Parts: sequence; C-alpha cells; structure tokens
Amino acid sequence: MAHQSALIAEDIHAYLKAHETKSLLRFLTCGSVDDGKSTLIGRLLYDSKMIFEDQLAALEADSKKVGTQGGDIDFALLVDGLAAEREQGITIDVAYRFFSTDRRKFIVADTPGHEQYTRNMVTGASTADAAIILIDARKGVLTQTRRHSYLVSLLGIRHVLLAVNKMDLVDWSREIFDAIVAEYRDFAGQIGIRDFTAIPMSALKGDNITDTSDKSPWYDGPPLMRWLEEAPVEDDLQGKPFRMPVQWVNRPNLDFRGFSGLIASGVIRPGDKVKALPSGRESTVERIVTFTGDLPQAVAGQSVTLTLKDEIDISRGDVLAAASSPPEVADQFEATIVWFDEEPLLPGRSYLLKSGARTVSAQVTEPKHRVNVNTLEKLAATRLELNEIGVCNLSLAAPIAFDAYAENKDLGGFILIDRMTNRTVGAGMLHFALRRSHNIHWQATDVDKAARAAAKGQKPRVLWFTGLSGAGKSTIANLVEKRLHAEGRHTYLLDGDNVRHGLNRDLGFTEEDRVENIRRVGEVAKLMADAGLIVLTAFISPFRAERRMVREMMPEGEFVEVFVDTPLAEAEKRDVKGLYAKARKGELKNFTGIDSPYEAPEAAEIRIDTTAMTAEEAAEAIFRWLHA
Ligand code: ADX
Repeated sequence: MAHQSALIAEDIHAYLKAHETKSLLRFLTCGSVDDGKSTLIGRLLYDSKMIFEDQLAALEADSKKVGTQGGDIDFALLVDGLAAEREQGITIDVAYRFFSTDRRKFIVADTPGHEQYTRNMVTGASTADAAIILIDARKGVLTQTRRHSYLVSLLGIRHVLLAVNKMDLVDWSREIFDAIVAEYRDFAGQIGIRDFTAIPMSALKGDNITDTSDKSPWYDGPPLMRWLEEAPVEDDLQGKPFRMPVQWVNRPNLDFRGFSGLIASGVIRPGDKVKALPSGRESTVERIVTFTGDLPQAVAGQSVTLTLKDEIDISRGDVLAAASSPPEVADQFEATIVWFDEEPLLPGRSYLLKSGARTVSAQVTEPKHRVNVNTLEKLAATRLELNEIGVCNLSLAAPIAFDAYAENKDLGGFILIDRMTNRTVGAGMLHFALRRSHNIHWQATDVDKAARAAAKGQKPRVLWFTGLSGAGKSTIANLVEKRLHAEGRHTYLLDGDNVRHGLNRDLGFTEEDRVENIRRVGEVAKLMADAGLIVLTAFISPFRAERRMVREMMPEGEFVEVFVDTPLAEAEKRDVKGLYAKARKGELKNFTGIDSPYEAPEAAEIRIDTTAMTAEEAAEAIFRWLHA
C-alpha cells in the first residue's frame, strides 16, 4: 500500500525515486483510547490516503451502523478493525502502521491502551524518534500523561508533541489550551523534556491535522502533519564510534570466517582497526561482505558481514568496535528498570538479561529507589511491582561490552526475561559500571576443589532438601548426615532455622527475603562443596527459580534435589512447632502453604513420600541413591 500522489499517474519513476529517498520518521502515540488515540491514527492514515478503497467502504458502512459520530466517519473503528484483524493471527503487542506523504515516510507504533500499556509502550518506544502525547482538552494533564511522558524521557525520545485533542468540545478555548500547556511545561522541565510543541486539535473533525484550522486563529504553529514532516530524525548515529554486536559467526567453509550483525553506530571501512569485546583482541577489517557484493564502507543501520585480517576468537554476542574508542566492559552496573510483569522483580532472583546480541544471567543486587511518577519523589524499594520504575544495581554472570544508554540505545538498553516462563518481564537502561566491577579480580589458588576433594577421598555433593515447613526435611537430612559421617565422609548440614540464627538473622519471610535466604545459602553451599564437602541443606526453598539458580551454580550432577513430599494437610496435622495453628489464626503472616506459595519440584532427583515411609527408611533410600 503506497501513498496516493499525483505523481503516481504522471511519472511513476519519479514517484518511486522520491519515495525511496524520503526520510523515515518513527513515532509513538501515547494516551488512552478515550483520549482519541485511535481516532488520531485513523485520521492520519485517512488524510494521507493510506486506506484501501474496500476498507474505506466498510468503514463508512460501519460508521453509519454503529453511529457514534452521527453519520461522520468514525476513525476509531478503522484502527480498532485493524487491531481485531491483527489479533486473529499471532498476538503482537505493538502494531506498527505505515503511511507516507510527499515529503516523508512514517511508521507509527500503536500501543494498545490496556493494562499492559507500559510494556507495549517501552517496546514501541525503543526505536522511536518522536512521541505524540495525547491530551483530552476536557481533562488536561493526567497521571497517565505524566507516566507516559516520564517513560518517553527515560527512553531518550527527544522530539515531543503535546496533542491537545478534542478542542471542539471546549469551544476552542485558548485559555484552556494555554493552561494545559503551562501545566505540562512545568512537569516536562522536571523530567528532562527540554522542548516540546503543543498543538490544539480535533482529530475527529480534522482541525490542525493536515492544514491549519480557522477554528484556532490564535494558534500560529504548524498543523500535526507538518510537524511530523519536519521533526528531525536522529541520524547522528553515524557520527558516533563504530559498534556492531555480532549476531552470528558466518563460517560456511574453512576459507571464510565472517562476523555478521547490524551496525549500531558509526562507519566502517576495510583497513579500519577494530577491537572485539569483551576479549579486547584487536584486528583490522579486511572486507565488508553483503549479498550484493563487497562494500567500500558501511554505516549505522546496515546489516553486514565483516572479515578480519587475523584469526581472533569472536563469538555470537560479542561486540566489534572502533579500536580507538571501544565501549567499556563490565559486569556490575547501575541501571533504571521498568518492570511490567505481574510477578514482582525480586532482588537476588536470577533473570536473563538481553542486550544487543548477548544474553547473560543477571541479578538485582540492590534496589536503590523507585519513582513516584506524579511527584517524581524517590521512594524506598525492596522490590519492583507491575509498572513501577526504579533505579537498581545489577550484577551479571559475565562481563559485557556496553555504552551508557544515553550514548547508545543499542549497547545501553536491555530487556529482562523470566527464566521459568520465558516472558519479557522488564526493560532497562544502563547508566554506568560500578567501580567494583573493575577493581575486583578473581584470584587463582593452587590448592583447588579437586585436590581438596581427593584429600577427603570423596566427591563433593549438595543434597538440597526442599518441602513444606514440618515436612521432615531437617529430620531426614540429619539421619543422612549421620550415616555419611559414620562411614567417614566429610559433611556439613546447613539447616534453615540454624542459619536464620546467624548469617541470615536479618531476613524474614517476604518473597524477597526468601529469595535472598536461598541465594546466600546457595553461595555458602557452593563454597563448602568447593572445600570438598558433602553438603546437606534443609530449607523450605519454596521457589523453583531459586532452586534452579543454585543448581546452575554447581557443576552438572553435583546438585541433588531431594523433595520431601508431605501434603499440606499432613504437615499441618503434625504441626511440631505450632506454627500452622498460629498461621491459621492470622497471628503469623506469609506462612508457606497458608498464605505464601510453595512450588513443588517438577524433576527432583529424589522424591520422598513421607506418608509412605518413616524418616529412617527415607534416609536409607537417599543413602543408597548416593552409593549407586
Ligand atoms: S525459606 O522459605 O526461606 O526457605 P526457611 O527454610 O529458611 O524458609 O525457614 C523456614 C522455617 O522458619 C520454618 O520451618 C519455620 O520453623 C520458620 N518460620 C517462621 N515463619 C515462617 C513463615 N512465615 N513461613 C515459613 N516458615 C516460617
């Protein structure tokens, strides 16, 4: 579908040529459905003649049938119709619509206005050059307006248009318009939006959309379409140092080895010196290979394959950069995180962080604060809930090459993925590397784990008991340790209640405290296994994510999950410590199984059904499993 221009009939070649060289503006519309977002997008598509004839006929018929606009065309129906069409296929959260005028091509990210809004907005905004913030003139600046503007500013979108819509419903009152603009200016200044344009409009009636309207003689700025045609597009990417995240290593035969990726910034030519990161190895570009032949140079936005003069080790996810101004490499950062999952962000939990072509495990080590988007107040935070925005310290399992987000969106932006569900649960922007990231090194020691284990004549293991409170974890673990000790094994039993008397005395039973409890115990168990011991741990450890995290900290086969499977009713009946009774009476909050979840293991190495065997029999079974 192409824009209808007189040139199409007159000189199709001239039209195509002009179309090809037109610049592209990507923009985002923010506002809820009520603000007239669908109507506005529909109007832009209609005015730029981007609607198929048959769609238009259907639209006119539907508008008459539904009749919300008294016989006029209801543009919202158009956009909503497209949305329904879209939902029949695979669900995508952000719809990208394309239209063009004689002067420019446009891609508008239409983000649906439901509760998943933040997520969709962040997804849609990550590549946007400009944002239209819609305001209903009758309502003025709302919480939503502030929230969207704050995100727009965080995401580094520099061109902001305040569309004061539905001016026809306030009699084109200049006072109302001025008051809204003044209020917005105040807020915009505080969040770092230095400049914005405000246009009074009626998307429904078409005032100040393509042409200036005579309804607002007091307004002397551009109509919306002109603003869109003239907003500067960010093309200074070429002026920045060369960066290319390596998407894949192209090795069709032994004679060819190329590194493929999308150039994030800068310019590259054969003969240029490049540095591969995080390794820091240098080489020189030999060729720039594309499907249509070699290039003398390539720039930001192009996908290419580079070959290098030297055989250096580079893998997928590494970054090739200008040797003279390489990005930093670090594994600990301060970052802003926008959280958009129902499950909260819990410090200490292991997520996957994806930045550029790189995916690594990451944990929030310290939430610093969250932001109240209305007052911009910094509030204390121990976690981030759905739609919250906060500043946190992050720790990665491996170093990555990065630039601050403000410098380079590709190398400074990231998403967080839940390891259990594979959902994208958050997005963020790297600020800077923590100094400790550079100043702490791994110290090699001469006596290693194998030597320590050999001296004890055993294979280190971590026997991880999990189950409800009162399931029998401590009892059985104690019996297993006795058996192992009796045969001369070197062991240690880490027991929940005991560790909570010392190392973890600062932790309670909120979800974040339980995550931290298990993270610390996992680290201690790992150290003890490194010392050559057979470690037994007895913790409820209610979450799959943390049990899996500890498993992944150890070499394959070392972590043995023992599910002490006692049904809640049975554990409650035993109630050795009287805690279930207290929890039922409401005297003890967040009690596992009552008002805090327990996620049973799905593939534990050993499952003990305590209703079918005694503690001694269970210990014997585990002992035999270890010997086998
Ligand atoms: S975990 O969930 O963080 O793994 P942990 O095993 O360390 O828990 O501690 C559980 C023990 O703490 C229980 O056996 C019980 O004696 C005690 N306890 C006190 N309050 C709670 C609570 N709210 N939920 C579960 N256990 C509790």
